Amino acid sequence: NATAHLIDGKQTAEDIKVEIAAEVAHLLAAGQKVPHLAAILVGHDGGSETYVRNKVLACERVGYASTLLRFDDDITEAELLAQVAALNENADIDGFIVQLPLPKHIDPEKVIEAIRPEKDVDGFHPMNLGRMVAGLPALLPATPSGIVELMARQGIKTSGKHCVVIGRSNIVGTPVSILLAKNLENANCTVTLCHSRTQNLPEIVRQADIIVAAIGRPEFVTADMVKPGAIVIDVGTTRVTDANKKSGYSLKGDVNFAEVAPLAARITPVPGGVGPMTIAMLLLNTLRAAKGEVY
Ligand code: GUN
Repeated sequence: NATAHLIDGKQTAEDIKVEIAAEVAHLLAAGQKVPHLAAILVGHDGGSETYVRNKVLACERVGYASTLLRFDDDITEAELLAQVAALNENADIDGFIVQLPLPKHIDPEKVIEAIRPEKDVDGFHPMNLGRMVAGLPALLPATPSGIVELMARQGIKTSGKHCVVIGRSNIVGTPVSILLAKNLENANCTVTLCHSRTQNLPEIVRQADIIVAAIGRPEFVTADMVKPGAIVIDVGTTRVTDANKKSGYSLKGDVNFAEVAPLAARITPVPGGVGPMTIAMLLLNTLRAAKGEVY
């Protein structure tokens, strides 16, 4: 069976959502308020629109309240910071995200730093990143923690294995390389972080027991870079035009799936691999924020 070794992130994310929905039912039965997630979406980027819509739908699925705040891409940085401040002060909102990327005239670091760490359910605030590095309780970034959770729930043994991460973004590559080296969910990997300046990249990736591809370059990882029997985690979600799709595009991962899948022991599909896990972990962070579990 050619697909038996697929890592089904969609199913694993569903399992997590069922667990969360049960917790929400308990909160309701105890007469407590349900968790409330807010999202700020600036502009009309197609990918961002889809991600935010899926986040709102996921809230409905598990019984959370959700609020979507939309702004045109000419919103000033000062106005956006004022909106963040209002969500910080709004006691009904347990957590919120500002969908990235933001328009070029807005400094994302400034916006992220304006979010109260207790409500930073993306785990992007330097306070949460610093606490993560230090091994203190923190809201963890959703895609990195989703990757760790996905492998744990799929029974993939990572402890002591060599994991090569490709890509050093603030959102995925850098934090996932830190998390994978920690004892969280028995991850305990030996981690190599590769990026655009890495020399002999194919040779390094070939040494990986686990490959995490997070560079945003479609089909970058080819068969010659993969050790037979490796675990392959594909974080890429580049939109490419596809006349055969109703939407007019399809999502391409950072891994050449047709070439690499036959070599890999287990591999995540795109879509249906890491993406759904990101949303499930955002919901978990929102629950933790609502229960005051972290701070
Ligand atoms: N852009 C790409 N991934 C993410 C994410 O996880 N959260 C937010 N807010 N923006 C993103």
